[in-house]
Amino acid sequence: MQDQITQYTSEILAFEPSSAEELEIFRIKFLGTKGIIKDLFDAFKAVSPEEKRLLGKVLNEFKKTAEERYLQFKDAFESGSGADDAKLDLTLPGEGFENGSRHPLSLVRSEIIEIFKKLGFTVAEGPEIEDDWHNFSALNFPQEHPARDMQDTFFIKKDAENGDIALRTHTSSVQVRMMENGKPPFRSIMPGRVYRNEAISARAHCFFHQVEGLYIDENVSFADLKQTLFYFVQEMFGEGTKVRFRPSYFPFTEPSAEMDISCTICGGDGCAFCKHSGWVEILGCGMVDPNVLENCGIDSTKFTGYAFGMGIERITNLKYQIKDLRLFSENDVRFLKQFQSEII
Ligand code: DAH
Repeated sequence: MQDQITQYTSEILAFEPSSAEELEIFRIKFLGTKGIIKDLFDAFKAVSPEEKRLLGKVLNEFKKTAEERYLQFKDAFESGSGADDAKLDLTLPGEGFENGSRHPLSLVRSEIIEIFKKLGFTVAEGPEIEDDWHNFSALNFPQEHPARDMQDTFFIKKDAENGDIALRTHTSSVQVRMMENGKPPFRSIMPGRVYRNEAISARAHCFFHQVEGLYIDENVSFADLKQTLFYFVQEMFGEGTKVRFRPSYFPFTEPSAEMDISCTICGGDGCAFCKHSGWVEILGCGMVDPNVLENCGIDSTKFTGYAFGMGIERITNLKYQIKDLRLFSENDVRFLKQFQSEII
């Protein structure tokens, strides 16, 4: 038995595992419940008492050596400095990782910004939590006026005395902040997220995105508005896309209009998408109401201007034919992966 132990001891001391699996095989072989050490201890029971005195010590030493060897490598593998690392071949090709893609709304937002930048528009932003003044009153929505119901509002704090606090229902609030904090001329677009208290469906959501546009200077006319938006549509949807303006009502513009473009699906011939009219609405616009200018400290006898507001989801919808608004906020990778772009 002594000879056997000597032989096993040299085997153990020479043992250099190169992986956690090899170490496990070693453990089972020597230290396992049916392993060599267990067998040796079983055999030990049968030896003569004189031999036991001598062998007992040797056997215990052997067991200790095996355990120590095992623990030495176990620690090394667990702390990551084991032979697995030493054998790392740095010349092997890496494990490629998948490229992400930009959200379609971000792509369209960037595209809108790029188009207006070419016309000299800067980009501005404002807070998503707004007070009554910036979201409604300054924009010529009278108190208790039914026009406020055009937009179902998420109120955060109802406070008749100091003004309610709400999630902004439109980016038009940023116009007010811009005019209050600067001096004309203004030529900016204001992208951002807006909120409305609406049930979520394929066609409506409780939050969505808008881009507001504002141009204030001396002698700005409706013709400037039409030309700017016409240029935007040609750039966004391609040369030859038609536009038309329909009279409308917004408290903050006078006159107000809604703008339609020829249907991007059927080219204006009429299809299910445009409800066989050949036209689809994309934005609201108009000449800034003098009351709004005055509310923001701008001399309405000297300055005029136009404003417009469009939904980014709507534009994206037309560009990529995405019919269900919910897809934009579900973060399904299979949906998102389909949008690759050069614009970063
Ligand atoms: N704020 C309007 C809305 O959310 C959109 C809009 C219409 C903005 C006309 C404008 C505008 O600046 O002139 O429905």
